[in-house]
Amino acid sequence: MVKVLFVCLGNICRSPLAEGVFHFLLVQNGLDRKVGVDSCGTSAYHVGELADKRMRDVAFSHGIRLTSKARQLSMDDVDTFDYIIAMDSSNYKSILGLFGQSIKSKVFLMRDFDEVSGTTKDVPDPYYGGLDGFENVYQIIYRSCELLLNKIKNENRF
Ligand code: 4NP
Repeated sequence: MVKVLFVCLGNICRSPLAEGVFHFLLVQNGLDRKVGVDSCGTSAYHVGELADKRMRDVAFSHGIRLTSKARQLSMDDVDTFDYIIAMDSSNYKSILGLFGQSIKSKVFLMRDFDEVSGTTKDVPDPYYGGLDGFENVYQIIYRSCELLLNKIKNENRF
């Protein structure tokens, strides 16, 4: 099984959404038995918590239910996962800081896969902002997940 890990800071907003959206697309494409997906945070601030209610509500408004509970990135993850996707450049640096530069070939920025890249390569952190920020994050993540899935399909001949 090919395994994909989405990583943000708290694992309660961006990365659980990416996990939910990507799983939704896998089911739609009949690939949920071939590709596994998980998410985690670089911090331990919210370990054990469900995704932020605002993020769950926005996801639900698009037909996606977020059920994962927050966990922190761990040393085992580097062996378990084939694609590690950071939501922003700070998460990217934390991942390489923990695992070392040698795993660079399997670590990506989420917006590497966003065709509508704006002024930044980061998925903005919506935590301290309003609901429109959560909807914006949904749009960025949905677009990026579609292209990421194409890459994974191509690379693994699915
Ligand atoms: P996330 O958002 O990294 O997308 O889950 C955040 C959630 C919580 C905090 C920061 C970002 N926090 O500082 O508690």
